[in-house]
This record gives sequence, structure tokens and C-alpha cells, in this order.
Amino acid sequence: MHQDVQEILFSLEEIQHRTRKLGEQISRDYAGKTLILVGLLKGSVPFMAELMRYLTVDVRIDFMNVSSYTGAQSGQVVIKKDMEQDIAGKDVLIVEDIIDTGNTLYNIKKMLEERKCASCKIVTLLDKVESRTIDIQADYVGFDIPNAFVVGFGLDFDEKYRQLPYIGILKKECYE
Ligand code: PRP
Repeated sequence: MHQDVQEILFSLEEIQHRTRKLGEQISRDYAGKTLILVGLLKGSVPFMAELMRYLTVDVRIDFMNVSSYTGAQSGQVVIKKDMEQDIAGKDVLIVEDIIDTGNTLYNIKKMLEERKCASCKIVTLLDKVESRTIDIQADYVGFDIPNAFVVGFGLDFDEKYRQLPYIGILKKECYE
């Protein structure tokens, strides 16, 4: 375990097992269809790589990178890198590592729906329900988590810890 991690919440085996279940469910739900997976950079990368291994439907992948502002411009989401594919008439599944306030996904989902996709759903590895300030729910959730500072498996603090092969709680002294 990394010295800055206080406790492991989900091991690699637990993440893989749960992701396989999600992949099987998504494959059943989209049977016979083509699915466009849209990963939100950068946190979703390990989860997306894991999830797509378990999808048996026809899949295309794409990525977006967005940033959301706090303070004066709170709530505003700006696209830093847009996806490349035209999603009009297509089934889209947004892939996230974590939903916190819900602000990012609320705005991204709205943007993608305005592009006239046939459907737009959300899969997230982690759901921090207690922190939600905007009413948005994922269609597929890996794990509900408490309001703790989590890192690993794509999740960072100051761009660190993304490579850890588990989800852990960061020690307080590392971010306070
Ligand atoms: C994180 C995470 C979500 C968002 C969730 O991204 O990946 O996109 O924050 O927070 P919200 O529900 O309060 O909007 P971040 O902006 O840290 O970028 P990253 O994926 O590059 O770490």
C-alpha cells in the first residue's frame, strides 16, 4: 500500500469483479446495438479500459476533457477537448470515475443530448451520493462511497496517485 494511503476501500480484485458485473449488465441492456463510450479525461481511463473488456456489444470509444469552475463562475463547464465522433442518432454511454457534486455530468449530459444522440446514459465507478448538490443519477454505479478523499484507479490528488491499482482513502496530512 502507498505510504500516503490510510486505508484501501476497494482492491483491484473487487474493482474487476464489480466492473465485470457492470459490463455484463450493459451488454444485456444494449444487445444488438452499437454503443459509443465517452470517457471523461483523465480519471476515467483505467475504469474505461477495464469496462470495455467485458462488453460484448459493438463498441466505439471516444474521449472528452472538460473543466468546471468554482467561485464566481461556479457550475460552468468548459470543453478543453471535445469528442471526435458525430453522435446524432447514436447510443452514448458516458464513462466516469466518480460523481461528486454532479455538476460535471449534469452539464456534459445536457451537451451531448443537445447533439441529438438517440440515448445518453452514465456509468460511474464511484458514486459519492452525500456530496450531491445537483440532482443527477448514474444509470450504472460500481460502488457507493462515503464522503472521503479517495485516490487511485484514475483518481488523483494534485495529479498524483492515478496509477494505484486500488481505490484508497488519502491520509489527511497529504491534502490539509
Ligand atoms: C473529477 C471526476 C469528475 C468530476 C466529478 O474530475 O473525474 O469528472 O471531478 O465532480 P463533480 O461531480 O463535482 O462535477 P476532475 O475535474 O478532477 O478531472 P480528472 O478526471 O482529470 O481528475
